[in-house]
Amino acid sequence: MRKAGAFILGTGRALPSRVLTNQDLERMVDTSDEWITQRTGIKERRIVGEGESNSRLATTAARRALSRAGVSPEDLDLIIVATLTPDYLMPSVAVLVQQALGARRAGAFDLSATCSGFLYALSIADKFVREDPKRKILVIGSEVLSHKTNWEDRTTCVLFGDGAGAAVVTGSPDGERGVLSTHLHADGSLWHLLTLKGCGSLYPPCDPRIPREDYFIRMQGREVFKQAVRAMEAVAMEALETAGVAPGELDLLIPHQANIRIIEYLRERLELPPEKVFVNIHRYGNTSAASIPIALDEALEEGRLKEGDLVLMVSFGGGFTWASVLMRW
Ligand code: UT7
Repeated sequence: MRKAGAFILGTGRALPSRVLTNQDLERMVDTSDEWITQRTGIKERRIVGEGESNSRLATTAARRALSRAGVSPEDLDLIIVATLTPDYLMPSVAVLVQQALGARRAGAFDLSATCSGFLYALSIADKFVREDPKRKILVIGSEVLSHKTNWEDRTTCVLFGDGAGAAVVTGSPDGERGVLSTHLHADGSLWHLLTLKGCGSLYPPCDPRIPREDYFIRMQGREVFKQAVRAMEAVAMEALETAGVAPGELDLLIPHQANIRIIEYLRERLELPPEKVFVNIHRYGNTSAASIPIALDEALEEGRLKEGDLVLMVSFGGGFTWASVLMRW
């Protein structure tokens, strides 16, 4: 097996305190707790309130990750924030986090790869630490999807939530523990199935010719679902086959949390028992780029990952993009 690269020293997460339940949504659109639970597995999600923003969530998650890693902000070489809902189009969330942390030495940029953003960012960090294992890199997935949600569209508004997760990455201590492989994929031919057009340069704000719905996330859910199950299984198998590992050797699978039925499908295809698959979609819904780092942080806190464990992270999102990262913990 290939030598390990990026090693995670510490993780953290931040969730807004405001909880929006399925019962709350029943009062907002024509939906039901039963429909949402059966079709998605979601029971509630977190929504930002006054004074909360993407960069604040990202900074809080980062502080927790740095503290657990025992790394000071001045020691960071790079900050990468995966997000599709930045505070501003300019500057990036990453520089706002850099400033808030006082990470003076760090370069900083945002990365746009929708729900696969965290795994894309982790794979970039992996390349940087393979070049110089002493580097310290902060990798964050952070989203405020609630501000890009059409609260009149029941086909999307029940799905998303806000939150952030962070990981402090450095080189493998021994060549055994850390990232073993990364696989990134995209298919732009299907971009139109999942979009957030408004406020891009083709869709300027307040242009009366642009329909209101285009300022929010739009999705052809059934089509996205079909692509997601196919792509997530394929990229999971690609990771396992490349590493010469059988699915049964996995200790934990951390899939992107978009729909419990997608997660279940993947679990069945890999023939994994439920205890080897991390699920928190019932609490947070789909938090896009934040979903995997939040899940990773919770998995650690719950003692679901221990030294030497083999963990596979798998994502799928708009674009389409999909990815996997295989790690020895
Ligand atoms: O993270 C990025 C990737 N995203 C995903 O992977 C999401 C993939 N897609 C999905 O998770 C699912 O397609 C959804 C959860 C979005 C939808 O579930 P579905 O089983 O594919 O439902 P559907 O879109 O086929 O709709 C079935 C019915 C429709 O009614 P009719 O036409 O059968 O009368 C919808 O109008 O359910 C209706 N419906 C709802 N009913 C109650 C759609 N949304 C709702 C709702 N409450 N919130």
